[in-house]
Amino acid sequence: MKIVRTVSEMQQLSKSLQKEGKSIGLVPTMGYLHEGHQKLLREGRQQNDILILSIFLNPLQFGPTEDLDRYPKNEERDIDVAKNENVDIVFMPSVEEIYPSEMSHNISITKRTNILCGKTREGHFEGVVTVLAKLFNVTIPDNAYFGLKDAQQVSVVKAFVDDFNVPVNIVPVATVREEDGLAKSSRNVNLDTREREEAKYLYRALLHGKEFVEQGETDPKIIISAVSQFIIEHTHGKIDYVDLLSYPNLDHISEVTGDMILAVAVKFNGARLIDNVIFNKSGKLLYT
Ligand code: PAF
Repeated sequence: MKIVRTVSEMQQLSKSLQKEGKSIGLVPTMGYLHEGHQKLLREGRQQNDILILSIFLNPLQFGPTEDLDRYPKNEERDIDVAKNENVDIVFMPSVEEIYPSEMSHNISITKRTNILCGKTREGHFEGVVTVLAKLFNVTIPDNAYFGLKDAQQVSVVKAFVDDFNVPVNIVPVATVREEDGLAKSSRNVNLDTREREEAKYLYRALLHGKEFVEQGETDPKIIISAVSQFIIEHTHGKIDYVDLLSYPNLDHISEVTGDMILAVAVKFNGARLIDNVIFNKSGKLLYT
């Protein structure tokens, strides 16, 4: 396994691999790998000749009051995980390598970001898309793998590659969960014991909402309110949002129709957690 830390080396390597006719899969991450990332790596390993893991804690996607400083890190363990998953190349550049000087262009996003996390995390998705534009240009992947816990990210990134004809296939991968249902996330380690215990109710709340759809409820407001009530009853967390939207367009809907996402964000002292389920109008899950 090769570790590459500079943009120029990575780009040259990818260009020559591409010339040799090798297909390239990229799993972009911010490190502190967990089983969710491992699932992305396994899919990437199966579907490509060359598997690249990028590890870069991207400051551009964190707001001034967000948890950049508290974001967990463990480079050594991440490298071990990469070896175990048969990664070919780990691309782990420094911040200076990725952002050597102030940029003279910025990406502004006009759709899919004025709701859910985009509402409170100003500039977050612009930061995500900016770093991905760089990572795609540097690693030149055929396929890039993204976890559906961040379904809004998947939706925004897919729109970005479609808008700009970026020749990368975006592969969404189902959320990996702990035994009690909590979605795996690097941030979970920042929860205290009580918060960790309560955190399992996020997924249960989503399933509770989905049950309403299965039973024929068509009014999004009733479903959203049932999910909110469930979270309030079972946790001390502060609800950031609960919403039911069309998927992947993320438009508000006045009645249950087509494919939809039921999504929540809840702030605990230790971490702000997000989760979602994506299902059709009969309540059948689309990704498992
Ligand atoms: O999902 C993440 O970990 C990040 O948003 C990503 C895609 C690696 C971009 O920094």
